Amino acid sequence: MSGKDIDKQGENKNELVKEVKQAKSIEAKKTDDKIVEKDKVEKETEKKKTKKKRGIFGKYKKEKKEEKKKGKEEEEEKERVVYLEVQPEYEIVDEYWIQEPFAKVKIAKLPELGGQKVYFVEEAQLSPNEKKVVDKLIDILSVELNPPEGFEEDIRKHVIDEARRLAEKYKKAIKGVTEENWDKILYYIERDLLGYGPIDVMMRDFRLEDISCDGINRAIHVWHREHESIPTNVIFVDKEYLREFIIKLAHMAGKHISAAFPIVDAMLPGRHRLAATYGEEVSPRGSTFTIRKFREKPLSIINLLESGNLDEWTAAYLWFMLENRVTLMVIGATAAGKTTLLNSLTSFFKPGFKVVTIEETPELNLPHENWVQLVSRESYGLGEAKVGEITLFDLVKVSLRYRPDYIIVGEIRGEEAFVLFQAMSTGHGGMSTMHADSLDRAVKRLVSPPMNVSPAYIPSLNIVVLTERTILPTGQFSRRIRRIWEIEDYGRYREIVRWNPTTDKHEIINDSYLIPRLAEFQGKAPEDVLEEIRRRQVVLTWMKFTEIRDMKDVSKIILEYYVSPQEVYLRAVQDLERLGVKVEKIGPRVVAVAQASPRSSRESQVFIRESTKPVVRRVVEEAVEEKPVKMVSEEPKVEEEVKGPSLQDKILVTLLKLGGESDYVSLINLLNVRKNEFSSVVRDLIRAKMIVPVITYVENRPTLGYKLTAEGDRRARELSK
Ligand SMILES: Nc1ncnc2c1ncn2[C@@H]1O[C@H](COP(=O)(O)OP(=O)(O)OP(=O)(O)O)[C@@H](O)[C@H]1O
Ligand SMILES: [Mg+2]
Repeated sequence: MSGKDIDKQGENKNELVKEVKQAKSIEAKKTDDKIVEKDKVEKETEKKKTKKKRGIFGKYKKEKKEEKKKGKEEEEEKERVVYLEVQPEYEIVDEYWIQEPFAKVKIAKLPELGGQKVYFVEEAQLSPNEKKVVDKLIDILSVELNPPEGFEEDIRKHVIDEARRLAEKYKKAIKGVTEENWDKILYYIERDLLGYGPIDVMMRDFRLEDISCDGINRAIHVWHREHESIPTNVIFVDKEYLREFIIKLAHMAGKHISAAFPIVDAMLPGRHRLAATYGEEVSPRGSTFTIRKFREKPLSIINLLESGNLDEWTAAYLWFMLENRVTLMVIGATAAGKTTLLNSLTSFFKPGFKVVTIEETPELNLPHENWVQLVSRESYGLGEAKVGEITLFDLVKVSLRYRPDYIIVGEIRGEEAFVLFQAMSTGHGGMSTMHADSLDRAVKRLVSPPMNVSPAYIPSLNIVVLTERTILPTGQFSRRIRRIWEIEDYGRYREIVRWNPTTDKHEIINDSYLIPRLAEFQGKAPEDVLEEIRRRQVVLTWMKFTEIRDMKDVSKIILEYYVSPQEVYLRAVQDLERLGVKVEKIGPRVVAVAQASPRSSRESQVFIRESTKPVVRRVVEEAVEEKPVKMVSEEPKVEEEVKGPSLQDKILVTLLKLGGESDYVSLINLLNVRKNEFSSVVRDLIRAKMIVPVITYVENRPTLGYKLTAEGDRRARELSK
């Protein structure tokens, strides 16, 4: 995330903080004054550190006064991070354990903030003595920790075991800890030594998307999946401690942050994305950080359909487009869900596609087998000397050597856009995201420095999708694909789909420019393509209703559809009938799509190629001649399925003759059968464990193939006797 984005978030948070402050009494104002005053005095003398402070909500911790007696040490600890407490008058709207019985989350509405929700972290409290034990053990562990014996050892378990071992060793020094309290102590050791200390509970709460801190004396804010952007009860109140904390975060991400290098954008363990600033160098209010939490399970296209981000027709339309290597860009504001959408769309790729992803911080998580992941690298050198730096630009250039079907650049910002567009204009499929809130701005950014894409190259981008985090008619926040355009030429954009904010429905508002051209290219009528899209719409609706939503499962069905479209479609129709679900027919405009107008060969350059071979986008006529392989989905609808042991046997014997493995195109050609018939028999053979599907390489191109199992091999040998 860029510094600008942080500023933007900071502004939002500040507004909230402002509201909070307005809602508070003058007492709170005094508090702030005290804090400012304290900052000044702090520089002069350490003693003043014990000065009383109030949190952002102006509440003292109840026992604050009593604590004063409990000794200076504990008071100092309270000064570093303040946890505001849930008051009896607060209305709890949600609560759940993060780690029973030590860490719990409560979401409460605060009357003094006009009912604003706040995220409360509640952890088991340590007595002053237990606190001392935790600190002591952490000190000892930092010095005396034995390294684990092997890499495979669970590091958490190792540290806990070591803590227990050392506790035994220093038993004399550690008094007054009962056995029950040991678990609590170990919870804190794990939290502070291995975890994220004061924000560990938030990091472990999978419901949170973002965690951000805008400096000291400001509540940490989170983006909660159900409760949206809310402040938390956790407030860093010590400048030095926040600085140390940010250094620790940077170290956890394997990076360095300091006054000389005050900005870090990196990946934390668990693939959480960290953006942080150090001290007052670039953020006058002190160190800041934002953590974008990584989803273990990426959102699939079905997840997005379920939450209404897009509708089934739009998804089916994009599926068809991606199958045909159409180039696509997702645009939108920060955290609009661009990367998530891009990632979910990759499950539409044909199984044989070779995909290269190029990113600064690896966020994409593809279900695809044939995937090369490239990540840029910062310079090792200082200042101007960019020793060892590998940029996105370098990676896009090198990616062309992989002869990819799709090059995906996670986010384009600079000169890499230029190479990506060059690649797209020479027949490579390309996808990317870009920070822009309208198509107009996106194109302006593309044709200006540093991207410098020539306007002549703009039409090599075929589709632009605008996604937004928006307010629904119900008043709730959600993400929606707002608009989809097809690019006819530079300055000529045809809007195909638009989201209606009043009805919360996606509407098709124009005939497609691409569909007739793709149809023409495949020797089909546009109606056939629309029918194909409709069938896929049925399959997607079926997946949604039968809750096939895990990315892996979704990809599996899509692969099955590529292999046996008719079978999967019929299964979907039957199930939907059984469930009583009707699939909405699409509006008349698209059904009555215009035939492709006669086009000059010059115009054809813009277009898509289709075969499994990379074809330079020259004229369509040339590309058609190069088209050697018929893809499965081109198969005309065949209603009756012919199954028979003879074809099964023929496949087994042919595979044996071919050395036990072959791609499906060769098999079909050799056996001279129809694809549907072939697919159906192949499925039976897979079920009977005679063969397994594999990715094989034909002329260095990956494609789907089949391999004999040991059982299949035995049977094939018997048959060939
Ligand atoms: N459709 C969605 N439903 C629920 N959560 C989503 C959805 N899309 C994205 N998110 C969540 O929102 C956060 C931001 O999403 P994502 O990274 O895709 O946005 P982005 O637009 O690429 O952001 P950036 O501008 O930082 O690149 C992530 O935590 C992600 O899990
Ligand atoms: Mg992104």
